[in-house]
Amino acid sequence: MGSGAALPIRTARRERPDRRAALLIDPRNGSLLTPVVFVLNGPNLNLLGLREPAIYGAGTLADLEELCRASGSRLGLTVDVRQSNHEGDLVDWIQEARTAAQGIVLNAGALTHTSVAIHDALRAVGVPAIEVHLSNVHARESFRHHSYVSPVAAGVIVGLGPDGYDFALQALARRIARPDPSSEPITA
Ligand code: DQA
Repeated sequence: MGSGAALPIRTARRERPDRRAALLIDPRNGSLLTPVVFVLNGPNLNLLGLREPAIYGAGTLADLEELCRASGSRLGLTVDVRQSNHEGDLVDWIQEARTAAQGIVLNAGALTHTSVAIHDALRAVGVPAIEVHLSNVHARESFRHHSYVSPVAAGVIVGLGPDGYDFALQALARRIARPDPSSEPITA
């Protein structure tokens, strides 16, 4: 079949942006901006694939970062992925997000359970952050049940593996597109 008349309609449908895509309008000139989300991974997540695969899976950090970038481009987000084994780096990046990002996906690894500094940084910047853990921390040792991140997070996703990062990015994209959910009309 050659170039049929039905094709342009189908193409137009496919090119319609994802309905979850975030929109940000530059107040200076009304142009559309692509929102930036930082995906921050903490200590030992560089060892994904090697480290306790029965708990964390066989995928590597590079696989996880690729998944995040792919989710970001589907959702209309620029995803900036970073990993560090050092608490201060995570604090610096959270502070950087204050002026450089509209959202944060944070897996602080073991620092989740110990870091008042990360708690304070998240509280200080006020950028919506979704806490993610690959494993279900609540089904593991009791020292993993407490999180310094959860009280200052917009949401928490645990135990869903790499999909948790995709869900977190979806949630942030929706939140960026509609920053104040309480202003939404009740339709049901
Ligand atoms: C983790 C859970 C933490 O308790 C642990 O220290 C990690 C990984 C997770 O993704 O399941 O390093 O954050």
